Amino acid sequence: MYRTHSCGELRLQHRGQQVTLAGWVQRIRNLGGMTFIDLRDRYGITQLTIDENTPDDVRKTAATLGRECVLQATGTVLERRSKNPKIPTGDVELALARITLLNAAETPPFTIEDDSDGGEELRARFRYLDLRRNPLQKAITLRHRMAQEVRSYLDSQQFLEIETPFIIKSTPEGARDFVVPSRMNPGEFYALPQSPQTFKQLLMVAGYDRYFQIVRCFRDEDLRADRQPEFTQIDCEMAFVEREDILQTFEGLAKHLFKSVLGVAWTDNFPRMSYADAMACYGSDKPDIRFDMRLNELTATVKGKNFTPFDTAEYTGGICVQGCADFTRKQLDELAEWVKRPQIGAKGLVYIRWTNDGIKSSIDKYYTSDELSAIAAQCRAAPGDLILLLSGDKKKTRERLGALRIEMGNRLGMRPNNVFAPLWVYDFPLLEWDDATQRFYAMHHPFTAPKPEDLPKFYSANRDDIAQVNANAYDFVLNGVEIGGGSIRIHDASVQQRMFEVLGFSESEANYKFGFIINAFRYGAPPHGGVAFGFDRWCALFGGQETIRDYIAFPKNNTGRDVMLDAPSKIDDAQMTELCLKSEIK
Ligand code: AMO
Repeated sequence: MYRTHSCGELRLQHRGQQVTLAGWVQRIRNLGGMTFIDLRDRYGITQLTIDENTPDDVRKTAATLGRECVLQATGTVLERRSKNPKIPTGDVELALARITLLNAAETPPFTIEDDSDGGEELRARFRYLDLRRNPLQKAITLRHRMAQEVRSYLDSQQFLEIETPFIIKSTPEGARDFVVPSRMNPGEFYALPQSPQTFKQLLMVAGYDRYFQIVRCFRDEDLRADRQPEFTQIDCEMAFVEREDILQTFEGLAKHLFKSVLGVAWTDNFPRMSYADAMACYGSDKPDIRFDMRLNELTATVKGKNFTPFDTAEYTGGICVQGCADFTRKQLDELAEWVKRPQIGAKGLVYIRWTNDGIKSSIDKYYTSDELSAIAAQCRAAPGDLILLLSGDKKKTRERLGALRIEMGNRLGMRPNNVFAPLWVYDFPLLEWDDATQRFYAMHHPFTAPKPEDLPKFYSANRDDIAQVNANAYDFVLNGVEIGGGSIRIHDASVQQRMFEVLGFSESEANYKFGFIINAFRYGAPPHGGVAFGFDRWCALFGGQETIRDYIAFPKNNTGRDVMLDAPSKIDDAQMTELCLKSEIK
């Protein structure tokens, strides 16, 4: 037996026992007559002690040790003279009697400590060493716990876990596909699934009325802190359901995870908000409702005072930043620069400060103090508050104000990562028109059902009518992050065909790409719907982090590379030829 206990297990109750531990050397402290070795495994750290009573051979071996050597250590558990209240094993130490060096280690390229001295790139190259660090072990353990709890809850609700294939047909719609050449079918390609969407719908047709899968998805898209090219979804589908059944079932899942993973009991229903309200009040389809600071539309109030930016704008709106009337000129100038950054794209920022000396603004020349008071009242401001106004195109300006709201929330500490604000957003538009390609794109995906009351518009020949159709779609939002998205699906072959027509596919194109699902709908497809949650995002949020990378054991960097493997990489000519990617004929 390599070990009798783990390095996180020993307590005062083990005093006097002879035990054997195995692990990595975290630290060695040599204090003249005494040497202390911190031995670490994933359960914790135990202090090994060497003093004048330690056998000579043990001292000799100990003198050769360095950080990250792998050791087996046997000794007697003693009560420590100077206890360490910071670690659970801090009351005891192990008086070494025997020690075996199981494997030596080169000096690691960075310190294996909570706050490592290694940069991101270096740690990514030696990911297996980074994974030894406590914060990463915690993240990976949290992920495991979440996965177990997801399975246990969904199993209790009669969901079946069913695997679906990873090499499928390329049907790009949304992100780009990763493709895989087929050796046995020269010149043809599989694609890796962006999600198991069509398979889970086929499972509904097949009668497996509650399906789930914790499944890898692949999307060749630009990466951000919360996006990886391969990521994991909790993918779910149900038959014979309406939206309400789905929201209830998965609110149940979220509450189960809050309780079992974070110990947070949630009795209230999660709030719900329409997409239209979310855009109007928060300038975002994924509002962070941990704090208020809503958008107030001022378009009509501010027009007609000869201030051209407001007079000519489709939309003017403001947010009230409570208690910030004492912002200095320098701070306000800096905010004005912030909104002009290319990522935000506003032309300028107007402010109104309600100080003890009255209302002051950057537009005093155009508005009387009564008019400014009216604006302040509309923004529900009070003395001591700062109001920030933007104007321009309606959609973009709301989004910019929404971004400014989040920025102010960050600066003012209104987004603590241990407070959770879940939210359902529903009734998204079904389609988005793209001027560049002169066609509609599905806002969620082409299998999402239009709201039944919008079906006449969906069949209209008029583009504006079609643009107004709402989808029976919903997102699950947590702290301003889109954790999940889903919809009630089309289950009627003719409606599905109309959808492909609206998306600009010819009948033969639609049949070539999606014939299998249109056909399936002809053989008794039940009404169905579902949702998929971004598992990595959910784990990161529960762990209090914004980036999902630490919750994935072996992630890619932000250019999509695995710097540990050095992938992607070139393949040799023979392999290229075999896959018909290179012709042998020169
Ligand atoms: P959607 O495309 O909205 O829906 O994806 C569902 C959730 O997956 C997460 N997600 C990602 N996480 C990390 N990296 C990425 N690149 C990434 N892309 C998406 C998000 C998102 O909310 N088949 C539909 C679901 C359905 O209709 O049932 C789908 O895939 O958290």
